[in-house]
Parts: sequence; C-alpha cells; structure tokens
Amino acid sequence: MNALILAGGLGTRLRPLTNYLPKPLIPLVGKPLVMHIIDSLPKEVDSVILAVSYMRDKLEEYFKENDVGRTIILVSEEEPLGTGGAIKNVSRYLDDTFIVMNGDVVCSLDISDMLKFHKTHGGIGSMSLWTVDDPSAFGVVGCKDSKIMTFQEKPKREEALSNLINAGTYIFEKEIFDYIPDGVVSIEKQVFPKILDKGMYGYEFNGYWVDCGTRANYITAQKILLNNGYAHVSTDAILEDNVKLTGQNLIKRAHLRNCNIGPNVYIEDDVLVSSNVTVSNSMLLRGSLIEEGSTIEGSVISQGCIVTKNSVVTDTISAKD
Ligand code: GTP
Repeated sequence: MNALILAGGLGTRLRPLTNYLPKPLIPLVGKPLVMHIIDSLPKEVDSVILAVSYMRDKLEEYFKENDVGRTIILVSEEEPLGTGGAIKNVSRYLDDTFIVMNGDVVCSLDISDMLKFHKTHGGIGSMSLWTVDDPSAFGVVGCKDSKIMTFQEKPKREEALSNLINAGTYIFEKEIFDYIPDGVVSIEKQVFPKILDKGMYGYEFNGYWVDCGTRANYITAQKILLNNGYAHVSTDAILEDNVKLTGQNLIKRAHLRNCNIGPNVYIEDDVLVSSNVTVSNSMLLRGSLIEEGSTIEGSVISQGCIVTKNSVVTDTISAKD
C-alpha cells in the first residue's frame, strides 16, 4: 500500500526557522517532524510519496542519508499546487485506495483502524476528525451516523455547525481524481464541498492532535510527546555543578552547567548552557550557546545561535542570519 504526505508548504509561520530548513525536517524530540508522520503509518505501507516544493534539495539529501525502512518517492511541484493540486500531481504513484496525510500534524490516530473504518463504510473517502472548543480556524464538518453531511472551511465561531474539525488524514478511492480540477486546487475549499454526495465518512479519534504550523503549537507537540515516552537524559550529556531538572525533558549530548531546565525542554547535541540560565518550554538546537544568566521561555533557539549574557528570550524563534 502507499501513502502520500503533503509536505510542500512554505512554512511561513515558522520563520526564520524555515528559512534554512523545510518544515518537514524541523526536529521534534529527536527526529524530523516528517519522520513522526512516516513512523505512524501502518506496516503495510511500503512506499511513501512526499509531495514537495519548498527546499526539495534538503529533503532529498535527508532521505539519501537516512534509510527509513520504506521506499520514499519525492515528487516536486515547480510552484506549490495547493493541497488538491498536489494530490492530483502524484496520481500515477497511487493505488486504488490510498492514504493522504497533512505533513505537519502530530497525532495519536490509529491509521490501521481508520482503514478498517473506511472499508466498512465504503464511499469515495474517509476523513479523520478531531474535537476542539473553537473550530473557527479549521475545516468543520457536520456528520450524521459518521456520514459527512456538511463541510465549512474556517467558519465564524457562531456559524460553525459542530466542534468536529478536519484532522488532516484522509483515505481516498481513486475516483477522487475525477473531482480535482487541474492546476492549483485547495482540496478543502474546492473539492470536499462537492463530493459529499459520493460518500465521505468521518473517523473520530481520541488521544492527542496538534497542527505544528506555529511556534506555540510546535512546542505543545513537544510537550505531548515528552509526556508520551520521549523524555530522556542521554548518558553522553554532561551535567556539571547544580543542574536542576523539572518535569519532562529530552537532553542529548549537551553540556549543562549550574542551570534550571524544564519543564518541556529539548536540547540537542553540542549545546552549551552556562551558569544561572533558566530554560522552560523551549528547544535548543544543535550547537547553540546560552550564556550566563539568560532566561528562555516558549522559544526555539536554532542551530548555532548564541544567546548573550543575561538575555531574556520569550516566545521567539531565533536563527542565524
Ligand atoms: P504556512 O506558510 O505557515 O501557512 O505553512 P504551510 O505553507 O505549510 O501551509 P499549511 O500549514 O496550511 O499547510 C498544511 C500542509 O499542507 C503542510 O503539510 C504543507 O506542507 C502542505 N501544503 C500546503 N500547501 C501545499 C502545496 O501547495 N503543495 C504541497 N505539496 N503541499 C502543500
């Protein structure tokens, strides 16, 4: 079986991090975001198609250097074709029934169970659904006995027909291509509203779901994963003098000295954290240097950045020029 991951977006909301890394390769608790998605696929998925555009070279390089245990096919769009256009662009690689996943969602969805659901219900497609308090920033569905009856893209809160949102994983039958026009197409806006009479079914799930498109959500995803088994302090880490660790953190081969770390902190290899530094809800990427007396909260310090003495960095993504 094969699956398609939509991974061609520009990731503008994660700039300046996405100025040097495409969003799928941004690290999340020790592996790139896209690997969390690939690893969540059932075993029977032996090939994964990545629809890419922005920074294709970096993605190619990653998959050349890392064997991920499945065949990876990168298909490039000269210009981003939108979610629907990207699916149509790779139609020649897809089976009669195929999985499509949004490339920046981290969630506890059981795709094998969703496949069973899809086979039982029939229809042109199935969509994963997640419940939120305020659905106004999402695609909202109205369902009757699991059949999707209405689809609203980003409705006003008071006009939303339910709290169930499109969670970004689909299973489609090949017939879907008859309803995707050529060119730049948004599947959410231009296709879903038109195919409801062909049978679209909604698969609800529990656990966790985060769209990692923004800094705050990225850090939330990190928190969830740290609380689900990813927390660890490497035996190669050097913790010198009085390092105080609070809550769940992942610390790789870094050097920490007399500082306060946590909760929800991820520190990569070759990071140096100096005395009297406090870090919480943050990511310190490879080779960054945090000088004495600084405080970092809700932030991503990118590869090789230096946070100078006594700085206060809050809710920020820093990156080298
Ligand atoms: P922002 O610029 O911050 O909005 O991020 P984005 O460009 O990634 O857009 P968005 O978060 O809405 O995209 C959701 C998912 O669809 C991401 O996994 C994107 O990589 C993917 N995506 C969005 N547009 C395209 C496109 O034109 N082509 C492809 N292949 N993927 C896309």
